[in-house]
Amino acid sequence: MSRGPRRSLGLCLLLLLLPGAPGHERTVNPRERTEELGSAWPSFQGLKERLKAAGALSKRYWTLFSCQVWPKDCEEHGAAAEKLLGWNISLLGQQYLAVLTRWYCRFQTCCDSGDCRISNNFTGLESDLNVLLHGQHLAQELVLRAVRGYVETPRPDKALALSFHGWSGTGKNFVARLLAENLYRDGLRSDCVRVFITMFHFPHSKYVDLYKEELFSQIRETQQRCHQTLFIFDEAEKLHPELLEALGPHLEHQALKNHRAETPRSIFLFLSNLGGSIINEVVLNLLRSGHSREDITMEHLEPHLQEEIAESTDSGFGHSRLVKEHLIDFFIPFLPLEYRHVRLCARDAFLSQELLYTEEALEEIAKMMVYVPKEEQLFSSQGCKSVSQRINYFLP
Ligand SMILES: *[C@@H]1O[C@H](CO)[C@@H](O)[C@H](O)[C@H]1NC(C)=O
Ligand SMILES: *[C@@H]1O[C@H](CO)[C@@H](O)[C@H](O)[C@H]1NC(C)=O
Repeated sequence: MSRGPRRSLGLCLLLLLLPGAPGHERTVNPRERTEELGSAWPSFQGLKERLKAAGALSKRYWTLFSCQVWPKDCEEHGAAAEKLLGWNISLLGQQYLAVLTRWYCRFQTCCDSGDCRISNNFTGLESDLNVLLHGQHLAQELVLRAVRGYVETPRPDKALALSFHGWSGTGKNFVARLLAENLYRDGLRSDCVRVFITMFHFPHSKYVDLYKEELFSQIRETQQRCHQTLFIFDEAEKLHPELLEALGPHLEHQALKNHRAETPRSIFLFLSNLGGSIINEVVLNLLRSGHSREDITMEHLEPHLQEEIAESTDSGFGHSRLVKEHLIDFFIPFLPLEYRHVRLCARDAFLSQELLYTEEALEEIAKMMVYVPKEEQLFSSQGCKSVSQRINYFLP
């Protein structure tokens, strides 16, 4: 996370300059790329400067590379540089240049339509949520509606903040990943996306000041790099109260600056198991009283969930200004998963590894989970967690 962009740039370039360096999968004909690059793009000059500064990029390669990417510049300076360095562009480096160009375009903004790193594929998101997410009809609908609404708002005056609640294994991380994958070409690895896991990134409360600084510089840097950013906070219930407090300004309403051509957008996701038990209780009671799962609505859940979050004493989240000042736009409940959902998770695990499965294997895997409450054995206590590892027992 803390890797300097400049250093890694240099490193990647070095790697690519080695003979036989592989090209990238998502590549486009370099000639097409060069044409696309011809169209002006405001942030281009800055990127150009950054790349120019990449320590490990030799001057020669820079000259060749810039000729490939910016042919106009090349006519002026390239010929002179060529003479000066005794370098023949047509002889050497063509193949490296193609690789370099492709590599460069992977990270930067080479599309006519805008920033290629940002895909905002809502068709894909909708289909993923429908097909791959099991047992979460509320999250499925809410997430799509909230995110699409936000991204399609011409000039949002606030970041979008969604808070996912539910037991572990119910799909909170999974939905965060689906979002990243459909909004960004490189998914969670995109340089527009940052994931913070509380116990991993901010484990010791005595360093909270340090963490605060680090968190802000990460948020600021990411927002400077991208006009649409996604920040994911996993284990949000464990975030230090001071970090939560300090996130406030990022989620508040902002005065719109009229001169900005492109309104920056940020999406914050907070994932926690807060309220998981109350969600389960409400769902259990509704099922017991004869409701079908799919009939459960937000009206059933929201008041209980909000109350539970606000009253939780073992976490600072409910008492933070994020909740108290209504800076969270949507609280999204993840329902406890049943046997049939676990079975679907097992099937997906086989399919995703392109393995054959039998109905018996799916049953076996679903039976391996622990179900609660004792009487009805209705909900998998671990949701679909670790289901994908369990398929290993059933491989030939
Ligand atoms: C570079 O190489 C090409 C192809 O071999 C040749 O036609 C051209 O004259 C060379 N240019 C220079 C400046 O040596
Ligand atoms: C959006 O996602 C769908 C499903 O994953 C895919 O088939 C489609 O090509 C994507 N569209 C774009 C524009 O990337």
